[in-house]
Amino acid sequence: MPVSPKKKRETRPGARKDPDTATARAGARGSSWDPNIVVFACNWCSYAGADTAGVSRIQHQPHFRMIRVMCSGRIQPGFVLRAFEKGADGVLVSGCHFGDCHYVFGNERAVEQFDKTMSVVKLLGLEEQRLRLEWISAAEGTRFADVINEFTDQVRALGPSPLRRDGQLTANRAGTKQQPATSG
Ligand code: FES
Repeated sequence: MPVSPKKKRETRPGARKDPDTATARAGARGSSWDPNIVVFACNWCSYAGADTAGVSRIQHQPHFRMIRVMCSGRIQPGFVLRAFEKGADGVLVSGCHFGDCHYVFGNERAVEQFDKTMSVVKLLGLEEQRLRLEWISAAEGTRFADVINEFTDQVRALGPSPLRRDGQLTANRAGTKQQPATSG
C-alpha cells in the first residue's frame, strides 16, 4: 500500500515529533513541560558557535529559536521584551567575547543594553533567571551546547513565564483587555 506524502514527511529522519512523543520525552526527563526560549545571537561568533555545534553533531536541547543579528550591540531592550510579550519563557542574549567583537565595542554596548533590559524585566515581575547574557565564540560549539542545556533546565525549573498562558499573553494580568479585531 503506497504511503501518503504526509505520512512520509512525518516519518523522515529529523521530522518534528508529535506532541505526545514530545510529552513522553519530557516526562522521561522528569518534566511534562518544555520552555520556549529565544536566543539572540551575533552573526560572527555566537551564531557561528551554534553552527559549530551542529556540524560537530554536539547534542543539546532543542527548545529554542535563534534570531541572528549582526552584533550583540544591536540587541535593544525592546527586542527582548517583545520576545517575552510573544510568549518566550526565557531569553538568551549572546555575542563575541570581549576583544573579538567585529564592530570593536559592540559587545560593550550589549552589556549596557542588557543591564537596562534586566531592570525592566525585574520591574515586570519576571524572574531575572529568565534572561541571560553569554559570550560564545565561533569555535565554542561545546560551550554553546552547554549554555543551551543549562539555560533550558534553569527556565524549565522556573515554569512557564507569568506573562503567558498556553502561549498567549495574559492580557488581564497586565490590566488591559484585548479588543476584538474589527473588520472593514
Ligand atoms: S560582532 Fe559579535 S558581539 Fe559584536
